[in-house]
Amino acid sequence: MSHKSELIAGDILEYLKAQENKGLLRFITCGSVDDGKSTLIGRLLYDSKLIFEDQLNALENDSRKMGTQGGDIDFALLVDGLSAEREQGITIDVAYRFFSTDKRKFIVADTPGHEQYTRNMATGASTADLAVILIDARKGVLTQTRRHSYIVSLLGIKHVVLAVNKMDLVDYSRQFFDDIEQEYRAFAAEIGLEDITCIPISALKGDNILDRGEALEWYEGPTLMHLLETIDVASDETSAPFRFPVQWVNRPNLDFRGFSGTIVSGRVAQGDEIVVLPSARTSRIKRIVTHDRDLEQAVAGQAVTLVLEDEIDISRGDVICHTETRAEMSDQFMAHILWMDDEPLLPGRPYLIKSATRTLPGMVTDLKYKVNVNSLEHEAGKKLELNEVGVCNLSLSDQIAYDRYADNRDMGGFIIINRLTNNTVGVGMIDYGLRRAENIHWQALDVNKQARSDMKGQKPVVLWFTGLSGSGKSTIANLVEKKLHARAKHTYVLDGDNVRHGLNKDLGFTDADRVENIRRVAETAKLMVDAGLITLVSFISPFRAERRMARELMGDKEFLEIYVNTPLEVCEERDPKGLYKKARRGEIKNFTGFDSPYEAPERADITLDTTRLDAEQAADQVIAYLEDNGYLQPQSPPVIGGFF
Ligand code: ADX
Repeated sequence: MSHKSELIAGDILEYLKAQENKGLLRFITCGSVDDGKSTLIGRLLYDSKLIFEDQLNALENDSRKMGTQGGDIDFALLVDGLSAEREQGITIDVAYRFFSTDKRKFIVADTPGHEQYTRNMATGASTADLAVILIDARKGVLTQTRRHSYIVSLLGIKHVVLAVNKMDLVDYSRQFFDDIEQEYRAFAAEIGLEDITCIPISALKGDNILDRGEALEWYEGPTLMHLLETIDVASDETSAPFRFPVQWVNRPNLDFRGFSGTIVSGRVAQGDEIVVLPSARTSRIKRIVTHDRDLEQAVAGQAVTLVLEDEIDISRGDVICHTETRAEMSDQFMAHILWMDDEPLLPGRPYLIKSATRTLPGMVTDLKYKVNVNSLEHEAGKKLELNEVGVCNLSLSDQIAYDRYADNRDMGGFIIINRLTNNTVGVGMIDYGLRRAENIHWQALDVNKQARSDMKGQKPVVLWFTGLSGSGKSTIANLVEKKLHARAKHTYVLDGDNVRHGLNKDLGFTDADRVENIRRVAETAKLMVDAGLITLVSFISPFRAERRMARELMGDKEFLEIYVNTPLEVCEERDPKGLYKKARRGEIKNFTGFDSPYEAPERADITLDTTRLDAEQAADQVIAYLEDNGYLQPQSPPVIGGFF
């Protein structure tokens, strides 16, 4: 029985207490199975004796039966079951393993090493304090070593162990090790990795894992386990400025009002002067309350409730800082983004951005360049694909308190969420806030939308026609405008083909360009509504996400989605511009309905079935809707007869 299980059996309370008081180190291992990663993790688990007896017996049996080590224990078998599966792409999750020694508890994130698993590696790296980067001593620094190191530095891991494995296969040669160390340190300096420890090891034989081993006498540094047990990572967090995002306002009765959350960095003490962001109101800490007692001070990682000297208005998502070292505020950023979704990131498309404090709508306004994760070269691009890294301008709907990711991973990191599926589709790291946002303010104008539309005697609204090319959008929009005009309404039609001759002349028909096309026309329509106009927009607008963005820009009352529902076959038969014929001949790329998708509306305000209605009738249906819903005065029925 292992010594841990003895303690568990003998004095479970003592065991639990010992566990609780031990520090925790989270680390990630980077490398492939070939580098001996599974063997290394297996060895760490085995040597720390946290393998249960039945597992141990099975391991010994399996090693005899199918191990690769001639009857000796094959540690890789401990973890390879999972890895093999993952390398085939069956599951792509990160495997977290827990183990502990007398000194520390460990959580190791194990992710596959191939490029197509970059997102998994980033997921594992995002919470790790340290990375063990494995190298096969025979192969030296490889492309994948560089890729792994770049992701490690991108995700802000400050401590790196370069484990030069398989030293037994190079006769424990010091020269091999020194050469690799030198090459790696030069590269690491380029990408800003500073704290690096290089250790020659043999995961298989155990050299320098727990014990030094005789063959590596020339090596003077720590063993891997010694380093993992003693490296100081707690001070990284506690020495940073104090940040406390408020998770909820705790107000059980009128006499108590506290702000609960977890300290993400720094320390706080009673009497400290604090500032609340975004309001910038200041106060002092009166009490630091925990579930069993008040504290004089608290540090990063602790969940506490803060009580302030003054009654100030604070809500969920606000951040409490020290007045001297307050976080910055902005709604526009330069950021690195790592994309994790099969559907690419498109600039201009609205996503939800979840930061430490708030979740807000936001979009990438400009993809500056992509970083090739293998060569680190900058490449131009209009979208970010799965596993790609890009440097972008990011714009949020409101200001947030933040720090640069390099200074504070919690306050400078964010995740990107797809608004339709709610899936996490990317992670981002704030490089800095863009100052330009600070100097642009809303200018209040005395003549406003209300005044402008009152003068025109109408309710401004966007009539957003969507449907396939040739579905009849423009024809119907034209007729609706004529009917409105006849009723002395002030209108304007924004038509895809027309706007693409001017404002959007620079855009083609890739997904990225269509997103930008719709973003611009939605912004234009908003200005027209602000001018008091009834604005008819006739664009294919094939994507739900952008139509939704347009709706949110205007608000429900001023946006009506009109689905011109004409099946592809009918459009193709009509083919008013001959484009379907060209598309069939392969002369037009990315043609909607062929090799570019159309996402039909799920809940349009008006659906026009053009297989049943002619254009005139369809236009009448729109007018009737406007009358029925208070956008237009119903016309008095024509007077029959009369005085003359
Ligand atoms: S959208 O998809 O970005 O909303 P938009 O409405 O501006 O498209 O432009 C569509 C018009 O451009 C079509 O009516 C058609 O006349 C023309 N067109 C040219 N190439 C394409 C294409 N590849 N796909 C769709 N429409 C095209």
